[in-house]
Amino acid sequence: MKQEKEAVHEAVREHYGELARRAGAARSSCCDASGAGAAACECSPKLYDGRLLEDLPVDVTGLSAGCGDPVTIAGLKPGETVLDLGSGGGIDCFLAWRQVGPGGRVIGVDMTPDMLAKAEASKEKLGAANVEFRRGQIEALPVESDSVDAVMSNCVINLSPDKASVFRETFRVLKPGGRVSISDIVAEGDFSAEMRARLDQWAECVTGAVSAQEYIGLMREAGFVDIQVVDKVGAEAIVGKREGMPRIFSARITARKPA
Ligand SMILES: C[S@@+](CC[C@H](N)C(=O)[O-])C[C@H]1O[C@@H](n2cnc3c(N)ncnc32)[C@H](O)[C@@H]1O
Repeated sequence: MKQEKEAVHEAVREHYGELARRAGAARSSCCDASGAGAAACECSPKLYDGRLLEDLPVDVTGLSAGCGDPVTIAGLKPGETVLDLGSGGGIDCFLAWRQVGPGGRVIGVDMTPDMLAKAEASKEKLGAANVEFRRGQIEALPVESDSVDAVMSNCVINLSPDKASVFRETFRVLKPGGRVSISDIVAEGDFSAEMRARLDQWAECVTGAVSAQEYIGLMREAGFVDIQVVDKVGAEAIVGKREGMPRIFSARITARKPA
């Protein structure tokens, strides 16, 4: 089992390392108002209100690999501490940084060195002194307990081979009363063992997905309350249609750690 989990992590790290390395050559934003370039650099089109992205460097917007906008529904306030699980090129961290202001703090955790290098370079470019990127796995967060006001995550938890640990860790690091705001891929129906073994498709945010019901069940087991599916839309435009597999959706989910 441990070996299987490591194999998933390795496949995912390899996939997103490659994406980060290739993004160096990308010329245009995948997330700009026109959506131009989405196919060329394989990142998620039109996830955000274009105004949110104004003034963000193309190195950030062009490396967006999420499946929704978890920042807008997080209700961030100036001075808050925010944690982004699987921060990638940092787009949600930089959006959160603008909202929490100079008195706040943003921490992004990711396990892929090439993604972290991209995010660090963008941090320097933006002068985002109170944004910090840490290398680590979301199943064992390198973050102090009871220290975070809001946890965000965008298209990452579906990639984890141990989602129960991710939610337990998320619960641990949140302050009492802290909240989560997630955008992620969920499935309608179960993938067979053979489908789950397709690590290439797991890394593409498909065969690691579980149903919204199972997802919410894991959150509840970790201790979360007020769990709400804010919206849920077909995700074929983001990850492509997969013949013979359960349908996949992009869902936004919020919840809270009891006070
Ligand atoms: C689909 S990308 C999303 C990146 C970013 N959230 C965004 O919206 O652009 C997934 C990211 O999560 C990271 N990741 C996946 N599984 C992880 C894990 N178990 N621990 C830490 N990072 C992980 C990958 O390295 C990659 O950067």
